[in-house]
Amino acid sequence: MLGAVWAHLDSGEHVHITTLAERPQLAGAAFDAGEWPEFMRHNRVAEAFFWRTTEVFADICLVATSADGTAVADAHAVRFAAGTAGRVQQPPGGWEQVVVWAFDDTHRGVVADTAGALNISVAATWQRRGLAGVMLRALRDAVRRSGVDTLVAPVRPPAKAREPGSGMATYATEMRDDGLPRDPWLRTHARAGGQFVGVAPASWLVAGSLAQWRAWTAMPFDCDGAIEVPGALVPVHCDIGADHAVYVEPNVWFRHDL
Ligand SMILES: CC(C)(COP(=O)(O)OP(=O)(O)OC[C@H]1O[C@@H](n2cnc3c(N)ncnc32)[C@H](O)[C@@H]1OP(=O)(O)O)[C@@H](O)C(=O)NCCC(=O)NCCS
Repeated sequence: MLGAVWAHLDSGEHVHITTLAERPQLAGAAFDAGEWPEFMRHNRVAEAFFWRTTEVFADICLVATSADGTAVADAHAVRFAAGTAGRVQQPPGGWEQVVVWAFDDTHRGVVADTAGALNISVAATWQRRGLAGVMLRALRDAVRRSGVDTLVAPVRPPAKAREPGSGMATYATEMRDDGLPRDPWLRTHARAGGQFVGVAPASWLVAGSLAQWRAWTAMPFDCDGAIEVPGALVPVHCDIGADHAVYVEPNVWFRHDL
């Protein structure tokens, strides 16, 4: 439990942050976070599991509300046993692997030792006020209170979509003069106390027929090879003969020792 946390933003506003165990009626409360490309809604692991995270891991899923009670941000995390034989704390399969392990462990009653952050979203009208960093620090607190002392995050840096041709390892390690990451969202993780520990090269997959990709993107998908799609962090691979295209999104591993 977080208890009633009123977080004050630099803008002078405040938000009320709790776990969903404390306010289960807010599970799934919708708000418009903007800029989420349609193709990203078609990951099958997320379709199978994401909606259940707020039930199964309600003590480490958070919601923030404004003074009038409207949901303005959320954060989701799961717990898994990274120390089990055959596993590592930051698997190459990133987001998808952590989710699958977490639900498998829950089903089999395995005791978890690590939390995995799946998402932090801020309502479009509340962005750029520091709320994402506030939510990340609240998530760290919630995980620690749940008895786990490590939070790993397969971070999706949305700004990478402006540079789809660069490698994720290069992008993630580009620093500003002050020693913080050039990417704003990675910078937020670093400021909150996270450490860059590598890249998850195959973290989030979207595979579909060419007809599906055309519907998701309004692009022709009429040639073989790498295709740059708005909102994609790296190119999508198109195979005309096989009638499919596949997006393999790399994410950036940050580890928060709590
Ligand atoms: C990514 C996201 C969570 C950031 O939320 P936020 O509350 O606006 O972030 P903050 O205000 O804490 O800003 C963090 C940094 O990002 C910068 N930033 C925020 N939005 C930005 C934008 N659209 N363009 C450029 N920089 C931006 C801020 O200036 C700040 O940089 P600083 O370190 O120089 O101060 C939010 O944009 C969002 O919900 N996006 C959609 C969902 C998503 O992609 N989530 C991340 C993957 S799970």
